[in-house]
Amino acid sequence: MGIIEVKNFKKSFGKKLVHRDVTFYVHKGECLGLIGGSGVGKSVILRSLIGLEKPDSGSIVIDDQEITSMDERELSEIRKKMAYVFQGGALFDSMTVYENLAYPLREHFKYSESEIRKRIMTQLEEFGLSGCDQLFPGNLSGGMQKRVGLARSMMMEPEIVLYDEPTAGLDPYNTKKIQEHILRLKNKGKTSILVTHDMPTAFAVCDKMAFLLDGVISAQGTMSELEKDSAGLISRFINGEAS
Ligand SMILES: Nc1ncnc2c1ncn2[C@@H]1O[C@H](COP(=O)(O)OP(=O)(O)O)[C@@H](O)[C@H]1O
Ligand SMILES: [Mg+2]
Repeated sequence: MGIIEVKNFKKSFGKKLVHRDVTFYVHKGECLGLIGGSGVGKSVILRSLIGLEKPDSGSIVIDDQEITSMDERELSEIRKKMAYVFQGGALFDSMTVYENLAYPLREHFKYSESEIRKRIMTQLEEFGLSGCDQLFPGNLSGGMQKRVGLARSMMMEPEIVLYDEPTAGLDPYNTKKIQEHILRLKNKGKTSILVTHDMPTAFAVCDKMAFLLDGVISAQGTMSELEKDSAGLISRFINGEAS
């Protein structure tokens, strides 16, 4: 059905029931916007999709494979197809931009140094970062660091990209660069989930949205359905009338 299928996902932390029953699908090539107030469990869902967390019950199917019962070796195969763009970017401060980008390739593949260099230069160019390869993260602006983080996530050429608030705190220029990047990947047929509070970006890139509230997907729809349904839960959330 979908390249990502989450069914009856339940998860608690201690006594706190965070996900009561979460079900959603993302078809190949689609971008789903996952929205909801702070602390509703959006990041936990993204982390679960790459097997960094396990639901207490329910099913997660990625590309026809159930991942909740997989061991670390099987999960590492699944993770080759997927990129999780962290909230913070999470670069290694003691490594140059070049080494940061080379890291995932060296970790997972046996590419020649010239192949690695070629891929890095291509990614840096895509993100408007040509000439930054020998700089350290500490010498870059926040927006540039975020773009380096994104470029690094793309080194493995993932089929599925999970973005966790990629534009949070960014200026309009860097926000636009990130929107362009998400659209570029979508045009190549890649699938993505975008967790965000940045509604202009969601409307620029998403095909549909799902609203997480009280442990369930309480509303969902295509962007055009949502635009028409001004009294709906999602519209009210977007307009600051519901949390
Ligand atoms: N490792 C953890 N240990 C305990 N509680 C956690 C852990 N990870 C997340 N939580 C709790 O789960 C809830 C959802 O977290 P999160 O997915 O980060 O929310 P969101 O990304 O929607 O803001 C929060 O209330 C948080 O306190
Ligand atoms: Mg989060």
